[in-house]
Amino acid sequence: MNSRLAGFHCKPLSSRREALRQLSLLAEADWAALDGAGLSLAEADRLSENVIGLFGLPLSIGTNLVVNGRDVLVPMVIEEASVVAGMSHGALLARAGGGVHAEADAPVMIGQLQVLDVPDMAQAIANLQAERAALLAAADRPHPTLSSLGGGARELDYRALPSAVGEMLIVQVRMDVRDAMGANAVNTSMEAIAPLVEQLTGGRVVVRILSNLADDRLARADCCIPAEALGSAEWPGALVAQRIVEASAFAEVDAHRAATHNKGIMNGIDAAALATGNDWRALEAGAHAYAARSGRYAPLSTWGLADGALVGRIEMPMAVGLIGGATQAHPLARLALRILGVETASDLAQILAAVGLVQNLAALRALATEGIQRGHMRLHARQRQPAPVDSSTEEGAPC
Ligand code: MEV
Repeated sequence: MNSRLAGFHCKPLSSRREALRQLSLLAEADWAALDGAGLSLAEADRLSENVIGLFGLPLSIGTNLVVNGRDVLVPMVIEEASVVAGMSHGALLARAGGGVHAEADAPVMIGQLQVLDVPDMAQAIANLQAERAALLAAADRPHPTLSSLGGGARELDYRALPSAVGEMLIVQVRMDVRDAMGANAVNTSMEAIAPLVEQLTGGRVVVRILSNLADDRLARADCCIPAEALGSAEWPGALVAQRIVEASAFAEVDAHRAATHNKGIMNGIDAAALATGNDWRALEAGAHAYAARSGRYAPLSTWGLADGALVGRIEMPMAVGLIGGATQAHPLARLALRILGVETASDLAQILAAVGLVQNLAALRALATEGIQRGHMRLHARQRQPAPVDSSTEEGAPC
């Protein structure tokens, strides 16, 4: 499969669907789901509460991406014009350097217990350490399937923290959640071990929940693009590369700029997360907390020059899954996962990191050259056209 679908953005919607059909990524039943909102009212009613209808959003395909040598088409659900075009353009630029290289940590999530009114902190921690095996077993007990797949509770750590309500003991459990995002598994385990923790500490457990700062579950991506590939008739490639590095440096020294830089990264990641039924709010929370880990809010990606090439890197928490939640309950999420061709949560995490990096590249290239408004305005103009809109977005080149 070649994700370099040249001219895809210039085709009418029906021809775009036909081009995708030719790739045989989807079964016939998938096409029926794509004809409507992809979700019946009955399915919606099971997903959420107080449902009164459906709220449609465009499902688009980001093109041109290569991750670890594999061509990937990226399903993206987003209402903001120019995000899909930007991702496809950034991916095309990265392609000139062989695509994006990505990796992901083991799928380890952190669960937290807050223990108050501990009579003897040192003794409580000693008791917990002595009963480590029993605590890990209690955390694993609700999840025989997870354990059989090689996942489960791995480590415990303890911290005493002063607070407005007195000293508290925080117990953290690290759990390998395999191909799940992990919130349900971790929360169940935290609730399961709370009585034993109360018994061992003599304290009172209040909060039992996972942490969205999934900093044991990072994904990283990098790319290296020959400067000449970044150029255009008006903008020599070396100048574009230099200006992208200058724009990146702005985000490194200023939190107001870093917030916008990271928002651009999350434009692509959230859109692909939403398409695959993943919890994009969890990704947002993790991303911004990680960006602020040094005490100063920083960009999740940076760009520099090396031997005449532009080199970009991104690192961020990536708590995504292929099972549980809407990933399996929403028919279009299942379809999106098939288009991506991912087999593990780690595959998906790597692709999302790559999407964030190329999304950021496209934004910085536009900001560092002609500005983003020209492209944005061209795309916004389409929204004022009478439906059906059969022209398309651009990936840097007008049709
Ligand atoms: C707009 O949705 C995203 C950008 O503002 C990102 C950026 O400034 O890097 C273009």
